[in-house]
Amino acid sequence: MAMRVRMTWLVLGMGAIWLGACGGSTPDPGSETDIALRGLIQKNGLRGDPAFGRELPSIDEPLAQLGRKLFFSKSLGGDRDSACVTCHHPALGGGDGLPMSIGVGADDPDLLGPGRTHPDGDLPVPRNAPTTFNIALWEKGLFWDSRVENLDDGGTRTPDSDFGTPDPDAGESLSEAQARFPVTSPEEMRGFEFVLDGTNAELRTALEQRLAEDGRWDAEFEATFGSSDIGYARIAEAIAAYEDSQVFTDTPWREYVEGNHDAIEEPAKRGAILFLGTREDGGADCASCHAGDFFTDEDFHSICAPQLGRGKGDGFLGTNDHGRARENDDRNYLFSFRTSSLLNVSATGPYLHAGTYDNLVDVVRHHLDPLGAIDSFDPSTVPLAASEDFERNTQEMLDFLEVSGRGIDSLRAPIELTDQDVEDLVAFLETLTDPCVLDRQCLSPWIADPATDDVDGHLLVAIDRDQNPL
Ligand code: HEC
Ligand code: HEC
Repeated sequence: MAMRVRMTWLVLGMGAIWLGACGGSTPDPGSETDIALRGLIQKNGLRGDPAFGRELPSIDEPLAQLGRKLFFSKSLGGDRDSACVTCHHPALGGGDGLPMSIGVGADDPDLLGPGRTHPDGDLPVPRNAPTTFNIALWEKGLFWDSRVENLDDGGTRTPDSDFGTPDPDAGESLSEAQARFPVTSPEEMRGFEFVLDGTNAELRTALEQRLAEDGRWDAEFEATFGSSDIGYARIAEAIAAYEDSQVFTDTPWREYVEGNHDAIEEPAKRGAILFLGTREDGGADCASCHAGDFFTDEDFHSICAPQLGRGKGDGFLGTNDHGRARENDDRNYLFSFRTSSLLNVSATGPYLHAGTYDNLVDVVRHHLDPLGAIDSFDPSTVPLAASEDFERNTQEMLDFLEVSGRGIDSLRAPIELTDQDVEDLVAFLETLTDPCVLDRQCLSPWIADPATDDVDGHLLVAIDRDQNPL
């Protein structure tokens, strides 16, 4: 581990002067690349640590420990065959490694990641599972369309309340509010029999009763909350504490921003210059949306991501996904999605809301020239229902973006970069990954231990497609 030294630096005209605390020696301004990059870092207002100043739970706290047990428990799935971890395993980058998820009814419920299959041969969940890593850092909203969102006037709106209206049961944080919903989705966790016609509230009550009747959860709740009441609000609070403890922000890039020239290599530095630079500066303008230390403006944009899979029931064929417009009913937001954070992105593929691309080179190329990328995309390579609808759905999106003039600028004016530039951008993206998320040992505090965490015999002990423990 390189030592982290906090320094103040100023850029004056063409050069950089370091005013530092390096034991009296004159700080090294770095190479020309460093000088240019540090200028852009300052211009973009980057400080390094996206979690700066926040108080976040530790995985060692009792609440987060209970949350881990619940997150890995199939008892929250209607048919006891799906848990939160099914689609958000730490060893799979906090996601599931699939373009779109398979929740209930899998051929082997405990087999996670590539190789998880469903008897009807399809991926039944209509969107890609985002990572739960760093979930605590989102300030505005969760989900690809932020349908769990903090309102300007206070309170949190969820799918249980009308658009713009707070949900009185949302709890204290976005993570808590979000944790009330996966259990209600038939494809993700609920299944197609459990409290079939019940409301979300009735479903949650049934789950509370299930845990209470089992008896073995009482002591867990008693030890954590001081009483054995098992309410869904407590379940959500514990799960949220577990998720919020998944703070993985110790990246080589952060170390670079905080002052260590050697934390990243030359190609990544060139990539960072492209990423942070505007088009006028010869850059790729990525930071206009992937802004700040968390690499997102938390706003909605259409980058013309091709729709794959069964979609959300939108559009002419009913297999498209209208994104944010589904929520705010505003045509201006058709096909737009929340800007992804790029932290740990090299570990969180496949990418985009429909899991369209499985590698970063393709994602970057798509951003630079969406039409070119769509033209050369072959949907038959992705084994999904409704992939025959790809062309029609994509055309529907392009027609809208053309008429409305919306969508990423590169749709109308592609950004022309060399292959080397694209490689450099990817090299930069790779510096946004905290080494801990690539290290099973480092992740082990977040992975349930069957010896201590299997409260009722329904802990999901995950295996990969080679039957090895995940
Ligand atoms: C079958 C797979 C599946 C299961 C099981 C599942 N999720 Fe998810 N999760 C997803 C998908 C897919 C999305 C994105 C859905 C969307 O945006 O419309 C998502 C989104 C999320 C998000 C929002 C992430 C972000 O960046 O906004 C969080 C947090 C989350 N899930 C936590 C949970 C928790 C907690 C549970 C258990 C109570 C759970 N998930 C169970 C697939 C799953
Ligand atoms: C106009 C805003 C905008 C610009 C500019 C932009 N992005 Fe994105 N980016 C997004 C949005 C929105 C998504 C998610 C879109 C979706 O899934 O439909 C995304 C997704 C991504 C993803 C995939 C993340 C994931 O987890 O799936 C990567 C990687 C990425 N962008 C990198 C870049 C790079 C590199 C650039 C510059 C070449 C760039 N972006 C420019 C808005 C933007």
